[in-house]
Amino acid sequence: MTTPLRALIIEDSQSDAELILLELRQGGFEPTYERVETAYEMTDALRRQTWDVILADYTLPKFSAPEALALLKKTGRDIPLLIISGSIGEETAVAAMKAGAHDYLMKDNLTRLPAAIQRELREAENRAERKSLEKQLLQAQKMESLGQLASGISHDFNNVLTGILGYSDLGLAKINLGHPLYPNFITIRKLAERAAGITRQLLAFARRQTIEAIDLNLNAIISDLLKLIATTLGEDIRIKFTPDAALKTVHADIAQIEQVLMNLCINARDAMPQGGALTIETKNIHLEKADCLALPNARPGSYVLLEVIDTGTGMEEKVREKIFEPFFTTKSPGKGTGLGLSLVYGIVRQHHGTIQVQSAPGKGTAFKVYFPSVEKPAIPKPSPPSLPPRGSGTILVVEDDPAVRNLIKLVLDNFGYAVLAADSVKEGLKIFQAHSNSITLILSDMVMPEASGMDLFRKIQELKQNVPFLFISGHFNHFEDPDFLLRNNFHLLEKPFSPSELAAKVDAILRKNEFNPSDRPDLN
Ligand SMILES: Nc1ncnc2c1ncn2[C@@H]1O[C@H](COP(=O)(O)OP(=O)(O)OP(=O)(O)O)[C@@H](O)[C@H]1O
Ligand SMILES: [Mg+2]
Repeated sequence: MTTPLRALIIEDSQSDAELILLELRQGGFEPTYERVETAYEMTDALRRQTWDVILADYTLPKFSAPEALALLKKTGRDIPLLIISGSIGEETAVAAMKAGAHDYLMKDNLTRLPAAIQRELREAENRAERKSLEKQLLQAQKMESLGQLASGISHDFNNVLTGILGYSDLGLAKINLGHPLYPNFITIRKLAERAAGITRQLLAFARRQTIEAIDLNLNAIISDLLKLIATTLGEDIRIKFTPDAALKTVHADIAQIEQVLMNLCINARDAMPQGGALTIETKNIHLEKADCLALPNARPGSYVLLEVIDTGTGMEEKVREKIFEPFFTTKSPGKGTGLGLSLVYGIVRQHHGTIQVQSAPGKGTAFKVYFPSVEKPAIPKPSPPSLPPRGSGTILVVEDDPAVRNLIKLVLDNFGYAVLAADSVKEGLKIFQAHSNSITLILSDMVMPEASGMDLFRKIQELKQNVPFLFISGHFNHFEDPDFLLRNNFHLLEKPFSPSELAAKVDAILRKNEFNPSDRPDLN
């Protein structure tokens, strides 16, 4: 078997070059080559194509091996350069090696040339692999610290936004359309919603969104979304969906998968302002150890691959390196926030998947998203919940932030519940003990200054009281065990939430828990 070899030969004699080529062919290589004699010709050859090896004579009439080495160093390229000379003293040879030559050989004894080249190619490959791993590690560390920063900011932000959203809703409920303050309240609400949207995306990037994962078939999710995608992309973009009919199941959150798909499709649309083609493809794929080297955070195993391919503008490497960073955008202000792909990145990582992008200017872009597959049948997509009806029962609300506490109280009042409110765990416990046979649900903040929602939960458990808990928090990253939640009648609602989201959640929990609190043992 022969190995193709692209050799750049720096040599003023064609017959000497032929001798080198002969040796290479005898040594099992199939060389393609170019012979250059000057710095200008070498620069030009380096610019035109990539080379596996440079073979340089030591002295030429208008050029020399040390000059060639210096020139190569300037380009920053890692191509092994070997010196092949008719006459070279030991001292010069040592100096050349010090300057970065990889080996030197005598023209009258070239027998070890093929072996030397093989060694150099192997080493160059190792160097490239190491460099790529280092780059990946650096990138992963950068994304990790950006994630921490994002999650810190969004936590505090969420409390503020829950208040702003809720109070503007309550304000709106109290006035009618003709009121002079009506447009002001609407604007507050809209701006707060936008801020909540950004916070949500940042939290998703930081992998702090709670996932409600089920066993699903990606093809079903994509088919359901195709109509929306077609409307979003417009008439000038042809859409093709090539599903794998035998696609394996993935354990994933429907809403989040939809977000991934929509973001990739919208980006593809923006990259094809004159129209083009969008292809969505799914297939089963097994990643081997070697495949994982090129994929960030990937482990060998079975995956479902979702590919979104466009025929758009493509990206320069400089852009490609940054696309997953929050707020990186090449779009003009007001057109993009640069959060779309950060969100995609966070969601994919949270699903223990990985993402890869192939793109070149003018050649279009392909995003490859890998989700781990599971050997289970898929559950059909559930239908969306209907609006919550008026409720009944008594709810204990424990929340230290007075704005959020009063808001929840008002909302629950409006929906017909009786509300008992406490500003701390201590106070909450006291109220619970006094009213244990009427309380149907405890709604508590997770993070409070003196004792946490978790402390309250444990104290109530010690009392052997069977009461459902609904926790509200900016993020729930430590609750990834769905069994624990189910076993303990433990529910989560992420801030910021709208009044109807809160009411729907409370209604769903109480519906599932139709029991009479007065059946509980009396605590007094
Ligand atoms: N399919 C694509 N083709 C070419 N460039 C792309 C593609 N997808 C993303 N990009 C580049 O990556 C950048 C970041 O994308 P990202 O989705 O994170 O933000 P955005 O689209 O600019 O703004 P946002 O999604 O928040 O509205 C884009 O501005 C664009 O330069
Ligand atoms: Mg985008």
